[in-house]
Amino acid sequence: MAVQVDDAVPSAAAAVSRYDPELERIEIELLLEGIYRSYGFDFRSYAYASIRRRLWKRIEAEGLHDVSELQARVLHEPQIMERLLLDLSINVTAMFRDPSFYRAFRERVIPILRTYPFIRLWHAGCATGEEVYSMAILLQEEGLYERCRIYATDINEVVLQTAKEGIFPLDRMQEYTENYIAAGGKRAFSDYYVAKYGGVLFSPSLTKNVVFSLHNLVTDRSFAEFNVILCRNVLIYFDKTLQAKVHGLFYDSLAMFGILVLGSKESLRFSPKVECYEQFNGPEKIFRKAR
Ligand SMILES: C[S@@+](CC[C@H](N)C(=O)[O-])C[C@H]1O[C@@H](n2cnc3c(N)ncnc32)[C@H](O)[C@@H]1O
Repeated sequence: MAVQVDDAVPSAAAAVSRYDPELERIEIELLLEGIYRSYGFDFRSYAYASIRRRLWKRIEAEGLHDVSELQARVLHEPQIMERLLLDLSINVTAMFRDPSFYRAFRERVIPILRTYPFIRLWHAGCATGEEVYSMAILLQEEGLYERCRIYATDINEVVLQTAKEGIFPLDRMQEYTENYIAAGGKRAFSDYYVAKYGGVLFSPSLTKNVVFSLHNLVTDRSFAEFNVILCRNVLIYFDKTLQAKVHGLFYDSLAMFGILVLGSKESLRFSPKVECYEQFNGPEKIFRKAR
């Protein structure tokens, strides 16, 4: 079962308590500003408590003492930034995560997509790609894959590389098979992969129409018009101002009557265009741009 938000406070939290919270906030803001100006990654409006926890985790892992020390190292050593990016970008994911969503998508959204000659989908914040492979399988089973172009983007180059390779851990296949069946899968899940390289390699036919690319939801612009945008379990890490900004980007990137999919704990609450969407399917976070 995928854990969405890791709340474990590292033992360096002992050091945290020595901090004046106001001073700590200043140091963290300076570090985030430095990361933005040096590397272009903008974490300044991510949810503070979560960012703070992750910074302390990295401080501890690197054997450092405080935020300022981490700042000095991050600014001078790109390898530390690479490791910190993995901590900050939380790449937890799973195949057919929330199977009821895939079932609803199959039953409610696919019949609409069937009427389109060409379909553009965008998985924003795709992490290691499990969600993209799941959608590709669904689209193949529904006979729509050949008409689709899927854009799979993430801020993190390391996870995108894994996504492109399509090799996933063998020990999660049982969980994924159960998810696949619960999602209304039509074949044997094992038809889609072979055991290889100590894991499983998914069929290259699934990524034939997928473009994997770096894209930062905070700093980059829209790059096409989409019929479906899926951004699941990404906005939970953003504060409300940043959520509003990203929702603006999604609204501008969606074709009229396009579908927006969010994660189970996410909503349109902070979208400046909330009134322009219709809730599409009961409990699932599927919305349709109606104006
Ligand atoms: C928890 S994963 C979600 C993966 C997948 N969508 C799912 O629901 O299983 C969140 C992903 O969002 C990405 N992310 C975080 N901030 C981002 C940003 N500003 N732009 C693009 N992707 C971002 C992270 O790198 C991470 O891979």
